[in-house]
Amino acid sequence: MVGDFTHNKERFMSEMQATYLKDYLPPAYRVTHTELTFDLDPSATRVKARLHVERHPERDEADLPLELFGEALTLVSVAIDGQPLEPHEFQEDEKGLTITRVPARFQLDTEVEIDPDANTALEGLYRSNGMFCTQCEPEGFRRITFYPDRPDVMATFSTTVIGDAKTLPVLLSNGNPVEKGELPNGRHFVTWEDPHPKPAYLFALVAGSLEKVEDHFTTMSGREVLLQIWVEPENLDKTEHAMASLKRSMKWDEETYGREYDLDRFMIVAVNDFNMGAMENKGLNIFNSAAVLTHPQTATDATFQRVEGIVAHEYFHNWSGNRVTCRDWFQLSLKEGFTVFRDQTFSADVNSAPVKRIEDVSFFRTAQFAEDAGPTAHPVRPDHYIEISNFYTLTIYEKGAEVVRMLRHLLGWDDFRRGSDLYFERFDGQAVRIEDFVACMAEVSGLDLNQFMRWYAQAGTPEIDAHGEYDYATGHYHLRLSQRTPATPGQFDKLPLHIPVRMGLVGTKSGHDLTLKLTDESGETQTLGKDGVIHLREAEQTFVFTDVEEAPVPSLLRGFSAPVKLRYPYSREDLAFLLTHDSDGFNRWDAGQRLTLLALDDLIAAHRNGVEKVMDVRLVDAYRALLTEASDDKAVLAEMLTLPSEAYIAEQQPVVDVDAIHAAREFVRQSLAWQLRDEFLAVYHDNRSDEAYAPTPEQIAERRLKNVALAYLMSVEDEEAVTLTQQQLDQGANMTDVRAALTLLAHSDRSDLAEPALKAFGEKWAHDPLVMDQWFTIQVTRPQADVLERVRFLMNHPLFSLKNPNKVRALIGAFAQNRVNFHRLDGEGYKLLADVVIELNRLNPEIAARIITPLTRWQRFDETRQALMKAELERIRAEKLSPNVYEMVERALA
Ligand code: PHE
Ligand code: ZN
Repeated sequence: MVGDFTHNKERFMSEMQATYLKDYLPPAYRVTHTELTFDLDPSATRVKARLHVERHPERDEADLPLELFGEALTLVSVAIDGQPLEPHEFQEDEKGLTITRVPARFQLDTEVEIDPDANTALEGLYRSNGMFCTQCEPEGFRRITFYPDRPDVMATFSTTVIGDAKTLPVLLSNGNPVEKGELPNGRHFVTWEDPHPKPAYLFALVAGSLEKVEDHFTTMSGREVLLQIWVEPENLDKTEHAMASLKRSMKWDEETYGREYDLDRFMIVAVNDFNMGAMENKGLNIFNSAAVLTHPQTATDATFQRVEGIVAHEYFHNWSGNRVTCRDWFQLSLKEGFTVFRDQTFSADVNSAPVKRIEDVSFFRTAQFAEDAGPTAHPVRPDHYIEISNFYTLTIYEKGAEVVRMLRHLLGWDDFRRGSDLYFERFDGQAVRIEDFVACMAEVSGLDLNQFMRWYAQAGTPEIDAHGEYDYATGHYHLRLSQRTPATPGQFDKLPLHIPVRMGLVGTKSGHDLTLKLTDESGETQTLGKDGVIHLREAEQTFVFTDVEEAPVPSLLRGFSAPVKLRYPYSREDLAFLLTHDSDGFNRWDAGQRLTLLALDDLIAAHRNGVEKVMDVRLVDAYRALLTEASDDKAVLAEMLTLPSEAYIAEQQPVVDVDAIHAAREFVRQSLAWQLRDEFLAVYHDNRSDEAYAPTPEQIAERRLKNVALAYLMSVEDEEAVTLTQQQLDQGANMTDVRAALTLLAHSDRSDLAEPALKAFGEKWAHDPLVMDQWFTIQVTRPQADVLERVRFLMNHPLFSLKNPNKVRALIGAFAQNRVNFHRLDGEGYKLLADVVIELNRLNPEIAARIITPLTRWQRFDETRQALMKAELERIRAEKLSPNVYEMVERALA
């Protein structure tokens, strides 16, 4: 059933085929061993494949045809057991090759020709800066050779790469090198063997003029692993942090999950043209250069931390993804949700844990909540898709990670770890389903997780309404929780979920957490300590706490223990109280956010009604207290001082009023800057360390705090702040400080200072594409009204290219986040984005289908903007569309 495509169902179903989870069948044939030979050439690469094939034991019926996927391949020859096939023995169409009759066990030989230079989609084999590289997940391998390209077909691989010895001195693939040599005509070859059976999506090949940085890691059982990072020569000085992160990740996975690395070498390669962040190919991770290269002079603290997290993520996939993989792509969150959870915990362990959680949750509540509330909402395990590449989403990744985190809350760490051990042991070398993972968790803990499985099947963000009542006479506290999940496309009726709510009751007199004694109807009491997890399972449920000695303020959903929206009728006094007294760092921060949002609500209303805006003094007092009461955690303080983003504020509004939100938020920023000028200045000066740059949590917190303070002061163009900003830029100590300063100047009205600064920066860094990405972004995120013209102008800049996904994100993606300018009332922002989508639909459908997202959210805006956005979607729909863009547009307009 495709309930979500009712409006245009006929056309939709006839043109593009959807794939359904319920139709899954094991493959008729499996491949036990794959031998590949690549003869590399920029426009005519030859690929020979020898597949060792046998009938699948679960489908052991004679007469089943052999179905091989293949796209954009030119078939040269095909043979079975050495016998070339006659044309009538196979059929070829745009999806692949079908061989009608095959024996129960045989060798299949094919040869194809492919054109890497024509490949602008960046799936399969392509060239980036002269270097050959591959991207096979999810379905790119079929652009390399004819193959049963599905994750439940796992084979060992032996790969020979042949290339020109001069231009391609380095030839890499998965596993270990076993042979190499010279060939006639200045060519050479290397043969690689990967002994671990793997699906084709984990295959990788790299060939180019690359240099490496090497290191070693000794595993917990004493094996030596060679670590290599391969880059273009000019980037050799940008690998240190990634290497250190890799070693930390390897150690952490041994200590935390008991997982050891399983090959003699682990390689990372940096490429400039890459659709995503990075890819976990077995033993040969390929990274977007933006996700691996760092240097204090070129990368910000945020990039250092992102690189650490992504290096860890890809490394952790070696177990959660590669050793145990997905049966089919509907199970994508099996590997992604678990691996994101693992990388989040890793980053929390090696940095500031509360800050990591605050950052992850504020991103999640802004971006994933928006996805879950929009026309492309889907469950963590979707039940159908047209183009699987469209499902590498925040729901699969981030919500999937939250669901795993809930399991950890429900089981406790020890049982969760035992469940993880059981999962890896039982399913090693297999392609499995999400329920296999959850069953391990149920088995080790004895918990009934049947209701919990609904988290994987139901889309939408559950909403919890909470009410508390304290009875002074009895000392009882009643907490009533009710849950409801709104309808999403194709899913109208939702069932109650099993939700872990971590909580405390904070005594209003003592300011301390009170002991939680949960008492059921029969009078049975369970002591949860001062910070406990209650299980909400019903649509409505009342929890009774006894022996509560004083009136409490409840602190609910601590650490964001479930991916839900929780409403509680807190007064501003309650929130100010939690802001200072909550023992949970995350909820302290959240109390501040809630308090700020209440003030913003009033200001947004005032702006709409044309009434004078008045700043809430309670907010000023709260910020003053934060700034002056010496805090021992600067990292958390910096987060507390950061106002909710315009996007997050918009999430709270029934109809988004772009201009009112911007005006209200600016008003708060500037009021705080005026009223707390001396406090901000003091914070700025107290956090200017002259230590040599290091990406340590302590230094990062100081820089963040300093730059947050400076940003407040610059919001009112304070003369002293302008001087300090200019100095900070000129000193150029590190990119974090330089970028902060340049951004503040460029986003101020001081174009007399901003323009020369931008020009100088652009000239200084013209040779470094990753720095130029930042230069593009800074210019198109300024709130002033001239931005759209600047975007059009920069699209013609010689260093901009629509073929490079990083550039598209840096310029177009960043502009679409510039809310006041993208949502201009003349519709020019929408038009610009649609023009780019149409162009990218031809060049790189995957990127086109991602960059279109802001247009799909039209329902959230006023009628004028809705009409303008829909008109652009219609204009895109009239084009000849790739399945990627087609699916997005149809969902958006359904
Ligand atoms: N599997 C990759 C990751 O999560 C992401 C990816 C998906 C990369 C598809 C490329 C293509 O790390
Ligand atoms: Zn991943």
